[in-house]
Amino acid sequence: MKKILITGGAGFIGSHVVRLFVTKYPEYQIFNLDKLTYAGNLANLTDIENQPNYTFVKGDLVDAPFVDALFAEHNFDGVVHLAAESHVDRSITDPMAFVLTNVVGTVNLLNAAKNTWKGNYDGKRFYHVSTDEVYGELHNPEDFFTETTAYDPRSPYSASKASSDHFVRAYGNTYKMPVVITNCSNNYGPNHFPEKLIPLMIHNILNNKPLPVYGKGENVRDWLFVIDHARAIDTVYHKGVLGETYNIGGFNEWKNIDLVKLLCSVMDKKLGRAEGTSEQLITYVTDRAGHDLRYAIDANKIMKELGWEPSLQFEEGLEKTVDWFLANTEWLDNVTSGNYQKYYETMY
Ligand code: NAD
Ligand code: DAU
Repeated sequence: MKKILITGGAGFIGSHVVRLFVTKYPEYQIFNLDKLTYAGNLANLTDIENQPNYTFVKGDLVDAPFVDALFAEHNFDGVVHLAAESHVDRSITDPMAFVLTNVVGTVNLLNAAKNTWKGNYDGKRFYHVSTDEVYGELHNPEDFFTETTAYDPRSPYSASKASSDHFVRAYGNTYKMPVVITNCSNNYGPNHFPEKLIPLMIHNILNNKPLPVYGKGENVRDWLFVIDHARAIDTVYHKGVLGETYNIGGFNEWKNIDLVKLLCSVMDKKLGRAEGTSEQLITYVTDRAGHDLRYAIDANKIMKELGWEPSLQFEEGLEKTVDWFLANTEWLDNVTSGNYQKYYETMY
């Protein structure tokens, strides 16, 4: 049985990756290593937690002896590394947390793999899941991020992810480790933590609270349904060429204000409110410091070389997402109680 270590599997994207691997590959033993920070939630995985090929391990990637011991015990065949501090706004107030988990944590994981595999890389694979934010921001509407776009990280979050990407590539070059990296655009979907734009707006609409749009709402993001990202990760893990990088995105750009208005309209319909009710909650607030203007991924390489493509149109994905949140209000209530309230008060 192949042993695969997935890190950050209790988080938003990680939980969808864990579910896909556990259900699709009964011949793999899946280990989910997660620290269970504010963003980690085992309630994301209740449907698969008792599967015989699934094991949860609580632990911190920053704790090198712990990571070394876990790797030495299991000698994993593959790693899918998603664990990270993931929220740009939090990186602005507490950059060091991002250095520790995203940079030190990644290097600890690379060292544990290197020291356990000892150059015997047959059938082994270290896959790092990264972000399009490492490429900086775009201004010209005709430009897209490709795999050869120069790195230009502009927030503490993207600087930490860029650094971790560089370490992964450096271990591939220096120690010949079998590495592969993907850089993906903004995800949305079920289990998205409500500090991020779409679930935050859904939560606020449900509670008739102001919808805080940063700046003029002109910033552009390229949105991909989280299950399509998980499918892409499965594709790259199994078919991606070692040493390569693949960009993942949905060719689906939206100005924040247009997206929020569309979401308001979907929510009005679902809640039986008159069209235009939720839009009245939109409030323009102080812009994010260093706010990147536009991200847009050119996903042609993964589409042409590996045959992956998104399965959903945005409107369909957004409706599925809203349906999920409306059906899981207990999940939403649980994650927005306690510390979330304090976070929200300091942010807005
Ligand atoms: P998330 O914040 O929802 O989840 C992160 C998970 O990592 C949580 O379960 C958390 O408990 C765990 N974690 C954090 N620090 C840890 C540590 N020190 N040790 C062990 N576990 C730890 O993040 P997400 O949005 O699911 O993102 C997952 C990955 O995908 C990240 O690497 C992120 O950079 C990348 N990514 C995210 C997006 C997006 O739109 N969300 C897009 C592209 C890439
Ligand atoms: O591009 C991939 C990245 O997408 C991932 O690497 C990150 O982990 C993920 O958090 C996401 O980063 P963003 O900063 O783009 O996502 P966020 O949901 O925080 O914000 C999306 C846009 O909406 C951004 O332009 C800021 C804006 N925004 C966000 C919030 C939370 C608002 O206008 N108001 C808000 O309250």
